[in-house]
Amino acid sequence: MKKSSEIIISLKHINKSFPLELGGEQQVLFDINFTVKSGEFVAIMGPSGSGKSTCMNIIGALDTPTSGVYELYGNDVTGLTTDELALVRNEYIGFVFQQFNLLPKRSVLDNVMLPLMYRGMTREERQRRAREMLRRVGLEKFESYLPTQLSGGMKQRVAIARALAGEPKLILADEPTGALDSKMGNEILKFFKELNHDLGITIVMITHEFDIAKYANRLIHIRDGKINYDGKIPKNDDNL
Ligand SMILES: Nc1ncnc2c1ncn2[C@@H]1O[C@H](COP(=O)(O)OP(=O)(O)OP(=O)(O)O)[C@@H](O)[C@H]1O
Ligand SMILES: [Mg+2]
Repeated sequence: MKKSSEIIISLKHINKSFPLELGGEQQVLFDINFTVKSGEFVAIMGPSGSGKSTCMNIIGALDTPTSGVYELYGNDVTGLTTDELALVRNEYIGFVFQQFNLLPKRSVLDNVMLPLMYRGMTREERQRRAREMLRRVGLEKFESYLPTQLSGGMKQRVAIARALAGEPKLILADEPTGALDSKMGNEILKFFKELNHDLGITIVMITHEFDIAKYANRLIHIRDGKINYDGKIPKNDDNL
């Protein structure tokens, strides 16, 4: 077991710019600095366009910063090749997206088995693990359904089962309840809280709603690509 105080995410002086169509560039992140320790549940909150997903893509090794140093588990991710980045993602991180990102023509079971492809497991082992994850999210009876035959909340639970299948130490969720009604959304958030509390899985969740951020234990607020709050969840969002 890793010590719970272990720093697993470290962003130092992260800047991110995107080239503009007509030349020049747009800077989206400005000198972002924070660390996340193992076992934390962090919400990254901010208005639309503030740079949340850009920040998440860097944390998830889906994109690289323009400058600055990003370390995941003490490894400098900035210098890795595309293949190495894919391995890091597959081994350490479970992703949950607003639009679920399930393969529409594959069964629920196949979708959950997918991230285990690169783990050197037999098909039977992968099936067993995927079924266990579906049981955990209460969807064991739906393994042969197609994602299109499920409700939004069920789809998101499949996506969470898929994220959990690889036994990640870290879950990155970008607006995980954005496409759900508030009842389903609350269930997903309670489930995240359990995963964090009971299994010690570190969670970084993006949202633009304070009521959702409140499920986390720490709030990082971004405005115009800069952090303007990092600390405990405040009583209300008046000063953010
Ligand atoms: N791949 C890209 N190429 C060019 N510009 C981009 C790219 N990704 C993001 N941007 C720009 O970066 C800024 C921040 O985008 P980002 O997606 O990080 O915002 P966000 O906080 O996640 O917003 P939302 O709440 O709407 O999802 C926007 O101005 C956007 O146009
Ligand atoms: Mg976004």
